[in-house]
Amino acid sequence: MLPLEAGRVRLFLLLGDVQSLLEQMQAQVHAWYLDGFAPARNPAMWSTAVLQQVARLTVPGGTFATFTAAGAVRRRLAAVGFAVEKVPGFSPKRESLRGYLAQPPAITDVSPWFANPSVPHGVMRRSSEPAWPGRQRRKL
Ligand SMILES: C[S@@+](CC[C@H](N)C(=O)[O-])C[C@H]1O[C@@H](n2cnc3c(N)ncnc32)[C@H](O)[C@@H]1O
Repeated sequence: MLPLEAGRVRLFLLLGDVQSLLEQMQAQVHAWYLDGFAPARNPAMWSTAVLQQVARLTVPGGTFATFTAAGAVRRRLAAVGFAVEKVPGFSPKRESLRGYLAQPPAITDVSPWFANPSVPHGVMRRSSEPAWPGRQRRKL
């Protein structure tokens, strides 16, 4: 972990396979930059399993940005709880994606016989306001 900006930013540097590292990681991530080569050439970086881990580790309202605008990535990010929008890309990319965690993933790892009966299985919680730096709340 590298503290930057007088400790206000903590950069995690993980070396190894993305899926197994994220599965072991415990953190509360506020911002992701997803930069894993083109999805068509490196699908392992963009799998549903990996993006589920990204969502698990993200604080409600936490953001992502990525150079890709691939439809499969957009749909997977939405499926794991991110509100996603297409925005203009940087040269040479015409479009890119960004978004925020609108809906934390459902609780899926609670076995019925351990579950607290007062908590409905699979209960979901909605996040508070999304935080786009310097912007008002907006519809995606
Ligand atoms: C386009 S580079 C971006 C690197 C970094 N964002 C930068 O700007 O220097 C993509 C990176 O993803 C890493 N990568 C690709 N597939 C991976 C995987 N399955 N697990 C972990 N890292 C992976 C590559 O080693 C490479 O460092």
